[in-house]
Amino acid sequence: MKFSIKSGNPEKQRSACIVVGVFEPRKLTKAAEAIDRIADGYIKGILRSGDMEGKAGSALVLHGVPNTLCERVLLVGLGKEQEFSDKTYRDAVRTTFKTLHETGATDATLFLTEVDVKNRDTAWKVSQTAIVAMESAYRFDRLKSKVEDNKPHLRKVTLATMNMSPGAELTASEEALQQGLAIADGMNLAKDLGNLAPNICTPTYLAEQASDIARTHKLKATILEQKDMEKLGMGALLAVARGSRQPAKLIVLEYWGQAKGEKKEKKGKPVVLVGKGVTFDTGGISLKPAAEMDEMKYDMCGAASVLGTITAVVKMGLPINLIGIIPTTENMPGGNATKPGDVVTSMSGQTIEILNTDAEGRLILCDALAYAERYEPETVIDIATLTGACVIALGHVASGLLSPDEELAEELLDASTRAADRAWRLPLWDEYQEQLKSNFADMGNIGGRAAGTITAACFLSRFTKKYRWAHLDVAGTAWKSGKEKGATGRPVPLLTQFLIGRARKKTPPGNKPA
Ligand code: BES
Ligand code: MN
Ligand code: ZN
Repeated sequence: MKFSIKSGNPEKQRSACIVVGVFEPRKLTKAAEAIDRIADGYIKGILRSGDMEGKAGSALVLHGVPNTLCERVLLVGLGKEQEFSDKTYRDAVRTTFKTLHETGATDATLFLTEVDVKNRDTAWKVSQTAIVAMESAYRFDRLKSKVEDNKPHLRKVTLATMNMSPGAELTASEEALQQGLAIADGMNLAKDLGNLAPNICTPTYLAEQASDIARTHKLKATILEQKDMEKLGMGALLAVARGSRQPAKLIVLEYWGQAKGEKKEKKGKPVVLVGKGVTFDTGGISLKPAAEMDEMKYDMCGAASVLGTITAVVKMGLPINLIGIIPTTENMPGGNATKPGDVVTSMSGQTIEILNTDAEGRLILCDALAYAERYEPETVIDIATLTGACVIALGHVASGLLSPDEELAEELLDASTRAADRAWRLPLWDEYQEQLKSNFADMGNIGGRAAGTITAACFLSRFTKKYRWAHLDVAGTAWKSGKEKGATGRPVPLLTQFLIGRARKKTPPGNKPA
């Protein structure tokens, strides 16, 4: 799908389909009015006949509307004007593309980005439209022998506005479009990696993909092998890898977009993203039950989101320094596998009693977090499908956010709202640390059933004392189960929005200052 931005009047557009909004009850938007006027009241006539109320989620395709230059007019219901919000805007765009894909239209011109959304400017609407449109066109058919004929016909999408000023607003919209498309590309990459079968998407495969990304975008890639990790003393990560035939890897990608060409000393401190890359989590010796175990191929979605975010950042050419670190392994039972009760020494020197081999994410992350220290990071954010408890607490709506740093937490929550990629903060108080006490090592790797998401983050916090740090638990948000099973590409939008904010160090795009 190709996107462009344009200023023009709806009645003058030559297009396979013009899209205009209708509020409930039967209230035309400006663009719909313009079409109705040239069509001598044809649209209002249809509304009067009771075919379209303007309810949110509704849509009506009209053919041969008199005096227009387009084959179709698509009326999209926007719901009540006073209730029109971020969510209803995105829902309307989703309905638009779902309906467009059901028609044979190969191009469409949308007059939606000019409809007022509270506290959001055109740039926000443009980038969200691009993201939702790309989501609607996503298919994963690489593993089918015959490609199903469900590919959208739509190739060209024009985001049109009636009265756009050619100067600042157009430039801001163009930039927002590029940002939206970069985020969508990053999400698509994250989805593809997540959806791939776990016999294909192994740690070695992830390392190859990262190297490919580095080659394409001229980034530095370093892949640490098991023998390198042994030298570094990564006893926790290696304990998880023991049961698997697939060798573990530690992938590092470096993007130095700030201070291009300057000496290393002058480089600004980087943001480091650490992504959990368990390409399949059986639980190990603490074996998981069989039901839905296939979904544990998604246990590398944190890693995928790091690769997706880096891709988006590179495409936008953001002037920031960004490092991605991905500890990746399978978690398998086997003759050589780690047993409950085993005690290992992490890279930080702290010892861990592994009481449950299914709490493996924190074990690979703690060594990656210790490794991150060498980049003298400004901020470290880890992203992990870490706990089933997070799904119970927040469902599939919000990712869990835990951080001892108020300012960083606020910054991330802000980015998540803007990106429509929700996160919700959980506490990380010291009282919870007690649950990790072990009689035999510095700590256990589990803290009991109570507050599972928090105690997992408490565990990680013990390895992050040298920098500002936040943890995102994406166990409930990185993929969907059931009939719609598939990776979501989250939290690429949140992370990318956060980094766009960092690049600007002023009001992020798409938002009127509060
Ligand atoms: N990858 C899982 C977490 C998970 C489970 C994500 C289900 C999404 C759906 C993680 O490695 C895990 O197994 N966590 C355990 C921790 C427990 C043993 C303390 C869990 O949540 O049950
Ligand atoms: Mn597990
Ligand atoms: Zn896991």
